[in-house]
Amino acid sequence: MPASSANLGPGFDTLGLALSLYLRCTLRKSSQGLQIQVSGCDSSEISLNRSNLIFRAFSRLASKETQEAVKLEIVNEVPLGKGLGSSAAAILAGLALANEWEGLNRSKEQLIQMATEMEGHPDNVAAAARGGLVVSCQAEDGAVISVNSPIIQKLEVVLVVPQCRLSTEAARAALPESYSRPHAIFNVQRVALLLAALREGRADLFAEAMQDRLHQPYRASLIPGFADILKLRNIPGLLGLALSGAGPSVVAFCDGRGAAEAGEAIAACFREHKVAAEIHRLQVDTQGLVVEKAS
Ligand code: HSE
Repeated sequence: MPASSANLGPGFDTLGLALSLYLRCTLRKSSQGLQIQVSGCDSSEISLNRSNLIFRAFSRLASKETQEAVKLEIVNEVPLGKGLGSSAAAILAGLALANEWEGLNRSKEQLIQMATEMEGHPDNVAAAARGGLVVSCQAEDGAVISVNSPIIQKLEVVLVVPQCRLSTEAARAALPESYSRPHAIFNVQRVALLLAALREGRADLFAEAMQDRLHQPYRASLIPGFADILKLRNIPGLLGLALSGAGPSVVAFCDGRGAAEAGEAIAACFREHKVAAEIHRLQVDTQGLVVEKAS
């Protein structure tokens, strides 16, 4: 399962981009009851019992007998609680493992639907499942509709991950109940512009297209340095930047030349607020959810 960056600025709860950091899970038969083994990023924070999120999702589809007779091996590259879709990846992984193990033949759409019901919103789930750039929405009856949208191949993605946490609940609680018409129009215009910029590779459009009035202004005060990051301009090769999901990580699109400088400038803003940050230069993942039978 790939990590994912949701929103991309104006596409709140709508856009998601799958990224080349992975959660890999293997399921085997166990004769010693349920066993969970974890390694990799933030592994000390991943539960080894039935409260494990991957296992909780797995239990939604797997029989009681199966749940007691498996060994789950988790190798994680996705930082937890940083706005990189770690919970969406975990939920989808659990559902996909149960689907395969029990031979349930649930489609990717059905897994996206179930995962969205557990996660609460579709953007990370749909991107992690489908790979690439994904547009998603929920119909009034809750049905999730998601579709890939074209994206230029040569896009450098820089992700800056600060060493601070922000829970999605807290980041969502900071948002207002309603928005003014100018703000709604502002975002609708920019989501459409951003999809065109990503499709056509229009470097000149990104800075404007990644502006947002629905969530970033309200979350800025929760993330040390983010208000300064939003003001970063004139870095050669930096096309545009946004909060990754609910934050606190920042995702930036660059044209190759600018990736190193852009990452450094964003990390410097975090450092000025006494928060260390890691810079990752990533690719867009194009595969999404991959399920393989182990030999
Ligand atoms: N669209 C969601 C948000 C992503 O911004 O709250 C968080 O997982």
